[in-house]
Amino acid sequence: MTPALALLAALAGGTGACAAEMRPPPGASSCSGCHAEGSAMGVLAGRPEAEIVGALEAFRTGARPATLMNRIAKGFGAQESQAIAAWFAAQGSR
Ligand code: HEC
Repeated sequence: MTPALALLAALAGGTGACAAEMRPPPGASSCSGCHAEGSAMGVLAGRPEAEIVGALEAFRTGARPATLMNRIAKGFGAQESQAIAAWFAAQGSR
């Protein structure tokens, strides 16, 4: 297991308890560990879906420089990224 995956696994186990009723798609709860409300990394909830998909794509391809997200984004395919982005976009309407 790579350190990034181990980190994701640890985060997935510990977060997401306070997420909305809608069940997050696989992987989404792991994002919240770093992208929770008030986080310096930026809140994902309520962001436009296309923006999140685009950012993940840019991180995955290396088009956008990153310290962590490049490795994290590589763990998700286009469809998974789409599902995660759609879920976070929907979280804005609280
Ligand atoms: C271990 C902490 C961590 C986790 C987990 C994490 N991120 Fe990030 N994220 C960051 C950091 C740090 C940045 C800033 C870019 C960088 O240095 O990698 C960032 C940046 C981003 C950005 C760009 C934000 C902006 O303001 O433009 C998006 C979108 C994003 N992450 C989405 C996600 C998604 C979706 C997931 C779950 C699949 C996720 N992140 C999981 C730490 C994390």
